[in-house]
Amino acid sequence: MKVIIFSAHDYEKPYFTELNSHNNHEIFFVYNNLNLESAIMAKGFDCVCAFVNDKLDAEVLVKLKELGIKLIALRSAGFNHVNLNAAFELNLPIVRVPAYSPHAIAEHGVALLLTLNRKIHKAYNRSREFNFSLEGLVGFDLYNKTVGIVGTGKIGLEMAKIMHGFGCHVLAYDKYPNTSLNFMQFVSLEEIYKKCDIISLHIPLTNDTNHLINDSAFSCMKKNAIIINTSRGGIIDTKALIEALKANTIKGAALDVYEEEENYFFSDFSGKGIDDDNLARLLTFPNVIVTGHQGFLTAEAIHNIVETTLNNISDFENKLPLINEVKIKKNNH
Ligand code: NAI
Repeated sequence: MKVIIFSAHDYEKPYFTELNSHNNHEIFFVYNNLNLESAIMAKGFDCVCAFVNDKLDAEVLVKLKELGIKLIALRSAGFNHVNLNAAFELNLPIVRVPAYSPHAIAEHGVALLLTLNRKIHKAYNRSREFNFSLEGLVGFDLYNKTVGIVGTGKIGLEMAKIMHGFGCHVLAYDKYPNTSLNFMQFVSLEEIYKKCDIISLHIPLTNDTNHLINDSAFSCMKKNAIIINTSRGGIIDTKALIEALKANTIKGAALDVYEEEENYFFSDFSGKGIDDDNLARLLTFPNVIVTGHQGFLTAEAIHNIVETTLNNISDFENKLPLINEVKIKKNNH
């Protein structure tokens, strides 16, 4: 099939080149994000391959359908950026990569936590200037602390296992609890807020979870709580987080995602600066670490994303069942 890859990154191109030798699709990479203006680039292609910050709202989907696009192949697990009702109306199938390495994201969450707690980011900068002072670098033992896992799907379970390995007590909350780990105790969300020293988010962004972590959630948390978000930015109300940090209601935040990230993440703004005052404010806090949605960025995960994406497209081309199709039903969110 003729495939246009929006939001292409240099890091994924070698994987596409190598793995496509088994599939023989005609692949064209563009660095642009997909939106109403750039959608015209899809003219003459059969399949649009999109990433997390591409816009797949009703207008863009209508445009793509008019241009002759037959399939939308997401290079992500999350599909909160797709208007599923519009795709249903247009009879435009959406395929995704449901799992590629839960380890990659969980391990990144732990990396953020350890960095923030042990102040590795500060120590790194200091030692490069031959400043070996330890003042202001005191952290805390993870051993014996209580960790709350919100969302016990693939990534949440991996996070739970790693934190258990550190000797933490693991509490969890999920709408549909996965009870496969006997050391993990399911509690209410309120108990997570009240009891946990570390809270790690692993739920999808939906209407239900949008701004789940808001003013009232922060006000229930322990003063020494660290919140980790490797899930989707919209789950945390950023303004409420900023207020909580200003008031020292919580100890810190480790963020791989941000609710308005599509304007900035995956691009270099070091020469221009940014207009987003909330993101800029977050970056001023010494007890906040932000990475630009890189939780998935391991060789294994990229390999799996590309392999599954190409197989999804081949299945469509060969009229095989679409095992990774996002089930679209009307009014699905
Ligand atoms: P999953 O589908 O395996 O697990 C999600 C869990 O959330 C399920 O157990 C489900 O029951 C629970 N859940 C759904 N709605 C809920 C609600 N309203 N309240 C409580 N629990 C609810 O998903 P997986 O693979 O563990 O991924 C989790 C999230 O991580 C994804 O939705 C995605 O947003 C994010 N992600 C981030 C990446 C990154 O690079 N930072 C990469 C991949 C995923």
